[in-house]
Amino acid sequence: MFGPKCHCLVVVGAQWGDEGKGKIVDVLAERADLVVRYQGGANAGHTVVNGGDAFILHQIPSGILHPATRCLIGNGVVLDPETLLREMQALTERGIVLEGRLAVSDRAHLVMPYHKVLDRATEREQRIGTTGRGIGPAYEDKFGRRGIRVGDLRHTDRAVQLVTDGAERANRVLAMLGVEERASVAEHVALVRRLAPCILPLVADTGKLAWDALRQGKHVLLEGAQGALLDVDHGTYPFVTSSNTTSGGAAVGAGIGPTAIDAVLGVVKAYTTRVGNGPLPTEADAPAAERLRTLGDEFGATTGRPRRCGWFDAVVVRYAARVNGLTDLAVTKLDILDEFDELAVCTGYRLERATLDDMPADTETLARVQPVYEMLAGWRRRTSDARKLADLPTQARAYLDRIQDLVGTRVTYVSVGSRRDQIIGLS
Ligand code: IMP
Ligand code: MG
Repeated sequence: MFGPKCHCLVVVGAQWGDEGKGKIVDVLAERADLVVRYQGGANAGHTVVNGGDAFILHQIPSGILHPATRCLIGNGVVLDPETLLREMQALTERGIVLEGRLAVSDRAHLVMPYHKVLDRATEREQRIGTTGRGIGPAYEDKFGRRGIRVGDLRHTDRAVQLVTDGAERANRVLAMLGVEERASVAEHVALVRRLAPCILPLVADTGKLAWDALRQGKHVLLEGAQGALLDVDHGTYPFVTSSNTTSGGAAVGAGIGPTAIDAVLGVVKAYTTRVGNGPLPTEADAPAAERLRTLGDEFGATTGRPRRCGWFDAVVVRYAARVNGLTDLAVTKLDILDEFDELAVCTGYRLERATLDDMPADTETLARVQPVYEMLAGWRRRTSDARKLADLPTQARAYLDRIQDLVGTRVTYVSVGSRRDQIIGLS
């Protein structure tokens, strides 16, 4: 997608996350000079298969497997420092050189162990089905203007004061919630002292780095995590994550202006999955869901939870195209549908006597809609070896055409397997 007219590309999930962004970013990063994560944190699980090796990346951008690509963790991310160090170590052990290739924004906020304790405590009442990675509480502290930023680690006394205040406050909240667990102030202080020297060498003004790269005519990829329907504004609130996953969040979270963005690629699965609670209008009946889950290996990359599975929902993706300003679509995991005789595609929702063709804001309303399905013929042939559109069975092409028409966005990539080479480019 990169070229003379596209220097800055955003890649977003256009469903409920787990669309296969990691693989698409890995493929596109071949031609990117910089890859920037702009929101979320260690709740993400991006699976990238390189040769025989599968890497699950939680915070480090999926561009890291290309030696010439530099990776940035932007200001919009809530950074779990311990997970970051573990992830770095795992990559190093597998021969990936990180020296000079990874930077973290001094404006990014830190996720502390007490955020995870609070996340679990809050879940007892709210039951969002979070990943338990402390994401919500860390963003609460950010917007409550009491967070600890990566740059605070440069001033030990300040960082120690902030983490002490944070842990004490967390303990007051835990008491209020009637939870017995407490955060140890001493352990948090020790943690901050231990982490600072490991993290500080990575710290930079990443927004400036991205801006400089763009001014030099380089290619910058902004890598989203989660998906449009998990966006805190546009998703199925309250069953969402605590950040703006959509492309508007990319400008804010990477620290560049929105006018710098040239294209927005939405990644969608050829069907639908969701992990965590909240409505999923096209959730399939148990046998079909089970079949999709088994064929697609639909288990969370971060928590291992089985994902809920269902049919492609064009209402969802059309909505995601609108709120993200999608210019292109990448359809992933088409090969998972190879064995089905028939495929259902949701074209609209019925609510009592009315027909809805857009996403309602009210989650309870969404929970009551009936999907309107169109049945399409399956292809019953292996697609994982296809490398160009003409290699695909007619029915598979008809399926993709129908998705493209219903969503109103051109399909630019089709992925037919987890390996890097299992991709069809349609530009
Ligand atoms: P949190 O982001 O851990 O607060 O979780 C909020 C909701 O977002 C839950 O439904 C999670 O399952 C979901 N979620 C968070 N991160 C991801 C992801 O990377 N993929 C899919 N779902 C996610
Ligand atoms: Mg994932």
